Amino acid sequence: MAEILSKKPRHIAFIMDGNGRWAQQRGLPRTAGHAEGGKTFRAIADACLDRDIEVITFFAFSTENWKRPKLEIAALMKLLNRYLVDWFSEERAKNTRVHFLGDTTPFSEELRDLIARAEQTGENISHHLNIALNYGGRADIAQAANKLLSERILTGNPSPVTEDEITLALSTGEMPPVDLLIRTGGEMRISNFLLWQSAYAELYFSDTLWPDFSAEELDRAIDWFSGRDRRYGGLNQK
Ligand code: FPP
Repeated sequence: MAEILSKKPRHIAFIMDGNGRWAQQRGLPRTAGHAEGGKTFRAIADACLDRDIEVITFFAFSTENWKRPKLEIAALMKLLNRYLVDWFSEERAKNTRVHFLGDTTPFSEELRDLIARAEQTGENISHHLNIALNYGGRADIAQAANKLLSERILTGNPSPVTEDEITLALSTGEMPPVDLLIRTGGEMRISNFLLWQSAYAELYFSDTLWPDFSAEELDRAIDWFSGRDRRYGGLNQK
């Protein structure tokens, strides 16, 4: 039993791709795909919490997504707004801490207030829900480097930077690294998501479009993860 439990991922990250195609296949506007994707986000977050996954991270908006039409960006922000407002009344908010990864300064004051409020919820924290918003993996590493550099300049510390220091200075701080990275929508790339944190992640690519992703497929991905032989560059211990 202990062996099976130890093979459960502690941190699952999701690249929620395929909303636009889901809508196009139905002759609907792309924003309808995001609305449906929002429901899947909610259902999968719940499913992960039910399965006692400690940390879950969703890529909601990348630094490259600003290139999209203004209307699509506005629709995404509206959705986020709605999910945050709903969050405050939810039971699971009591033991789950929400974190936003990325630079939220360009967003509206209303959204930033909601983000700040959401980040303060959680009394008895056992789970973490990260929403990557205006996030880029390289930018995360660069901000960690700059943080360490400023500290060194301030304290006159000339020692070389260590990997552990970089890990802690990233937006994910003390959270465990990504064990399982799931990308829906058929593309096989990481798209500048949690680059440092996914160094040893198992990568699960699914052709399912994000609005169609289900708790059943999540279970298949977790089962697949449990069967992986994670050697971290070493040899099999068996
Ligand atoms: C990629 O699909 C998806 C996004 C850019 C946004 C993801 C956002 C949601 C699922 C909305 C809800 C999220 C929260 C946190 C409330 P795409 O538009 O690139 O799809 P395509 O590749 O088919 O065009």
